[in-house]
Amino acid sequence: MLTELPEAPGTTRARTFAGPEHPMRVITNQLAAGAEFTPEIAGQVVELFSSMAAEWTANHDKPEKVAPLRDALERGLRASRDARCLEIGSGTGLGTRVLSGHFDRVVALDRTMAMLIEAPPELGPRMHGDASRLPVADGSIDVLVHLNMFLFPAEVDRVLAPSGELIWVNTSGESTPIHLTAEAIHDALPGEWTVTHSRAGTGTWAVATRTPT
Ligand SMILES: C[S@@+](CC[C@H](N)C(=O)[O-])C[C@H]1O[C@@H](n2cnc3c(N)ncnc32)[C@H](O)[C@@H]1O
Repeated sequence: MLTELPEAPGTTRARTFAGPEHPMRVITNQLAAGAEFTPEIAGQVVELFSSMAAEWTANHDKPEKVAPLRDALERGLRASRDARCLEIGSGTGLGTRVLSGHFDRVVALDRTMAMLIEAPPELGPRMHGDASRLPVADGSIDVLVHLNMFLFPAEVDRVLAPSGELIWVNTSGESTPIHLTAEAIHDALPGEWTVTHSRAGTGTWAVATRTPT
C-alpha cells in the first residue's frame, strides 16, 4: 500500500538533472531488481566516490538537501529515540548529523573509505562495509536509512526487525543520480510493505514498513 502525504511547506524542485541514462541510475535500477553487487560494480562505485570525497561535504552540505530526511523523521517515521538505527552509504556524514540528533544509537556504514574518513568523528561509530552483505544479524535493525544510496531488497528484508522501518531519501528528487520512486521501492521489497512518501526541500522521501498480516 502506498500513501502520499502533502508536500512540506517550502518544497522546491532541484535544477540539476540526472536522467535514466546516468550510470548510477542504471546500477540503482539493476540492484533494486536483485542484481548482484559484483566486484566490478563495487570497484566502479568506490573509484567514483573516492574521486569526489574531498569535495563532497562542500558541494552537498545544504539545508534543502537534508530537509527530506528531517521531514521523513518527523512525518513518516514511528520509531522512538532508542531505536537501533543503521545508515548505509553514509558518505561524509551529512545525513548522520541529522540522525545522531534524532536517535541515541546510530551506526554509519559506507563502502568507500575515502568518504567515511571525511565524516566528523563526533557523529559516532562508523563502519567500512558493504550494504549488499551487511555485517549485522537478522532482524537486528529498527531503522535502516538510505540517503542517495542503493537499495538491496533482500538485505533490507533480512536485517530489519519485524516492525522495522526503511527510510529512503532522494535529496534532489527525480534529479538524484541514485534515485528510486516510492512505487519502485514498494515493488522491489519482498513481501507486503506499506510505504508513506512525500516531498520536502529539494527532495523526495519514503518510509517503508512491513504490512501487518
Ligand atoms: C551518493 S553517495 C551519498 C552519500 C551520503 N549518503 C549523502 O547523501 O551525502 C553514495 C554513497 O554510498 C556508498 N555506497 C555505494 N555502494 C555501497 C555499498 N554497497 N555499501 C555501502 N556503501 C555503499 C558510496 O561509497 C557513497 O559514499
